[in-house]
Parts: sequence; structure tokens; C-alpha cells
Amino acid sequence: MVFWLFPEQISALNKGKFIENGQTGLRQIVGEVISVFLDANPITEEIQMKVLIVYAHPNPKSFNHAILESFTEGLTNAGHTYEIVDLYAINFNPILSGADFAMLMEGKTPEDIAVQQGKVSQADAIVFIHPVWWVAAPAILKGWVDRVFSMGFAYTSDGEGPPVGLLKHKKALTINTLGATKEDAKMSGITEVLQKAEDDYVFRFCGINDVQHVFFYNVMNADESILKGFLDESKNLGEGF
Ligand SMILES: Cc1cc2nc3c(=O)[nH]c(=O)nc-3n(C[C@H](O)[C@H](O)[C@H](O)COP(=O)(O)O)c2cc1C
Repeated sequence: MVFWLFPEQISALNKGKFIENGQTGLRQIVGEVISVFLDANPITEEIQMKVLIVYAHPNPKSFNHAILESFTEGLTNAGHTYEIVDLYAINFNPILSGADFAMLMEGKTPEDIAVQQGKVSQADAIVFIHPVWWVAAPAILKGWVDRVFSMGFAYTSDGEGPPVGLLKHKKALTINTLGATKEDAKMSGITEVLQKAEDDYVFRFCGINDVQHVFFYNVMNADESILKGFLDESKNLGEGF
């Protein structure tokens, strides 16, 4: 419900006149005050986020790509901005090498890692979109985490106490597609493995507390209406992000 408060009402409110109307009047006043506040501070400005999407699928015609499109459409509808790191498209090098280690130990950061860390630092939220391959993320995304979420950037450790996460993002989300049915995934424990690996030991470990993980099952054998439902849900996830 939209309330309007005119200047003379605000003035009356300030003088405490409406208080005389009892509880109902008070509720009305509270609604009106909230309304005035919201008009001056639209909610969309308050919650608008810069979202970094790390996307890992080699085929631009894949179902994962359709999910990416639906999700970003939802983000746009919600007023969020986003950047996509399309790992295959940029041919990201996922191998944390001896040379990388040597540089990191000297307090230097390899250029391609620094570019990715810059994107992470500028984002308010991080999203992974990927198919499940061998009960894990595709190696290119695993390697992005290996190299980009380095010690001193994503977490720190003094070698004595527990490691401390350094990422301050408002939230993280992973969207996965699986070949397995929901029943098979439940029986085999695939989803718990993925939640542990990505939600707990990547995002929460690095300091992000609001973590969500969505699974779309049996995508290779699902009929059109089910696939459409997954895409609608992806759009809703973006709109509700
Ligand atoms: C290398 C590879 C490994 C896979 N491993 C799994 C797996 O461990 N569990 C599973 O449910 N599906 C597995 N799949 C099936 C994929 O998850 C499925 O093909 C993908 O989610 C479909 O999405 P897409 O059409 O966008 O590729 C695997 C597929 C490939 C190519």
C-alpha cells in the first residue's frame, strides 16, 4: 500500500498531534513515515549489486549457456549490474604452476590472476554457473579458484589459528546442472559433496556467509517443459538476487 504524507502532516507529526488518535493512528503514521522514507530512498538503489558471474562451459549453445542468459535477464530486471567471466571464451589458464607459487611467495601476483582478483574485488556478489563433471566443477573453474582465491587475497592464515576469510561479498550462489536424477543424486550424495566443496570450503571458508546452491537434475533427459521450468527458475533467481 502506498501512503503519502503532505508537509503539513509531517509538521503535525513532528508536533505529536497524530499521537492523540491512538493505536490505529499510530500504525497509519508509521506506514506514512516509512512511505516518505522509501520515496526518498528507493529500495532498488539500496540493494543494487555488482555481480561477478564465473561461467564454465565450452559450448555457447549448451543448456548452461541458456541458464546464464536467463539468470542475467533476471539480474537486469532487478536492477543489478553484472560481469561475466566466461572461462573457456577467455581461454583461462587453470594451472596453478610452480612459477605462480614462486611469484606469490615473493608477494607478487601473476598478471592474469591480478586481473581476475580485480574483478572479484569490485563485485558485491559472486555466482558460479557450471555443469557437474565427475562430481565437481569443470577443471577450468576449479583452477580459477586455485589461482584466484590465493592466500592473502581470499583468506589468510598465521599458521597457528584457523584460517580467516577475507572476502566481504554480500552473497554467493552456485547454479549446477547434473545428468543424475534427483533421486540418484540423493542416494549417491553428489549434492552434499558439491555443497561441501563449493559452499563450505570455497565461499564460506573465504568469508562469504550468505551462500546458496541450486541444482537442476537430469537435464539431458528432461522434456521441454521441465527445461523451461529450470530457465524460469534461473530468471527468478536473478530477479530475487
Ligand atoms: C566429463 C563429464 C563428467 C560428468 N560427470 C557427471 C557427474 O559426476 N554427475 C552427474 O550427475 N552428471 C555428470 N555429467 C553430466 C553433466 O552434468 C551434464 O552433461 C550437464 O549437466 C548437461 O548440461 P549441458 O547440456 O549444459 O552440458 C558429466 C558430463 C561430462 C561431460
